[in-house]
Amino acid sequence: MCEQIRGHLNQAGSKGFSAEVQCTMSLQHEPMNTSNFAQLRVVVGSGGGVGQAWLGLLQAQDAGSKPTTRTVGLSRSTTPPIDYTQPATLEAASVWLKEQLGSSGSQLRQVVVATGFLHSDELGQPERSWRQLDATYLQHVMQVNAIGPALLIRALFDVLPKSERVVVAFLSAKVGSIGDNALGGWYGYRASKAALNQFVKTASIELRRHNKDAVCVALHPGTVDTDLSKPFVKKGLHVRTASVAAQELQAVLDQLGPAQTGQFFDYQGHALPW
Ligand SMILES: NC(=O)c1ccc[n+]([C@@H]2O[C@H](COP(=O)([O-])OP(=O)(O)OC[C@H]3O[C@@H](n4cnc5c(N)ncnc54)[C@H](OP(=O)(O)O)[C@@H]3O)[C@@H](O)[C@H]2O)c1
Repeated sequence: MCEQIRGHLNQAGSKGFSAEVQCTMSLQHEPMNTSNFAQLRVVVGSGGGVGQAWLGLLQAQDAGSKPTTRTVGLSRSTTPPIDYTQPATLEAASVWLKEQLGSSGSQLRQVVVATGFLHSDELGQPERSWRQLDATYLQHVMQVNAIGPALLIRALFDVLPKSERVVVAFLSAKVGSIGDNALGGWYGYRASKAALNQFVKTASIELRRHNKDAVCVALHPGTVDTDLSKPFVKKGLHVRTASVAAQELQAVLDQLGPAQTGQFFDYQGHALPW
């Protein structure tokens, strides 16, 4: 397996990442026995606030599930890693997933993409005015919130089943809605989530041709108590814990069918304007 991952990373000329180190370090995922489960679910961004809580929720459901279901988390610190600044990691993760699904007939049934970027000490805070627009911040927010998830769709397409229900959900944000933008500000984050929404909508159309029962949606999690929201939480805002948000978002996904594919929903299941 490590050979295949290493091949992908080397082929793409991945910089600053040692497949050797990643493959020989103690694995965060033990190789799975594919004969032991019928369905697989994946949480991408499982090191983040919402992602970690969502992974915990799904893994708790896995115990005693029928058909037998397993959920795995992928993030920058798992093996294999997923790092949008190193696109070769996406193809390598796809190869790993294919191997986990194996020849036993196990199927991928849900992918939640809970990655995202808003601020960092290095790149600063979201813009309050166009005067603060900065090329480096804009490139990074686009890379993590839009380009990375788009390349992830490309990497996952071949791993998604061609029949029966499969759900692919991307955490977006209501501020990415162009129709709902009444306040302005946060240029880069808003634009990156609007771009993500367009990728999700477009992929949903192609995915329907691949599997008529597929559900591909964007989700707004509301304000959730995580590192991403911390600097912006004001009094009076309805802030929920990540575990409450994960439960609410999963409940929304559980209600969706193919008729709802290609839409944008909030954590209460209300459709949002693009
Ligand atoms: N929290 C809120 O109030 C709120 C509101 C609206 C929308 N959202 C959206 O909800 C999602 C989850 O947010 P959160 O609050 O859980 O944020 P968070 O705690 O900051 O987690 C962010 C996640 O993004 C991943 N990530 C960052 N840079 C990455 C990169 N270069 N490559 C791959 N992954 C990268 C992190 O990866 P690691 O796991 O490797 O650290 C982490 O899993 C985001 O899309 C966010 O925009 C959140």
